[in-house]
Amino acid sequence: MAGMNIQASARLSAEVRREIDHWLSKYPAEHRQSAVIPALTAAQEHNKGYLSNELMDAVADYLGISRVTTYEVATFYSMYNREPVGKYVINICTNISCMLMGSDTVVGHLENKLGIKLGETTADGRFTLKIEEECLAACAGGPMMAINGHYYEKLSPARLDEILDGLE
Ligand code: FES
Repeated sequence: MAGMNIQASARLSAEVRREIDHWLSKYPAEHRQSAVIPALTAAQEHNKGYLSNELMDAVADYLGISRVTTYEVATFYSMYNREPVGKYVINICTNISCMLMGSDTVVGHLENKLGIKLGETTADGRFTLKIEEECLAACAGGPMMAINGHYYEKLSPARLDEILDGLE
């Protein structure tokens, strides 16, 4: 195990290891798996927003857990990206409340404006439209979306233009 952790250390930056260690300190030593979500999140944030298989393996090895566990977590939660993404990752909620409030209009407007479909990234690498998003727990503000984790609510085409045009 120790040898595995040393090898994994070499594949994770010092910054990522520091963040993982911070989260590990919050759990009993025998429950390192408890830190898998924040560990994957830290690894993703320091890898231009996505998790490669090598990175998921390195996180698993560093935590001392089975590699399949990191794959299971990363494929279950939509906040993880397993392919390179754009500078801005847009998650549009299309669940029931937002759908009733017009999420189809939001999807259509963004697809037209960016010239891509859900699940694609613009050629200039600026925007990724995530394939589908379940409820993001901001139902009262529907239709809504998140861009790099920041929530935007009560969207309209004019508001979408304003938001996107305001991004650097
Ligand atoms: S249904 Fe869209 S945030 Fe809940």
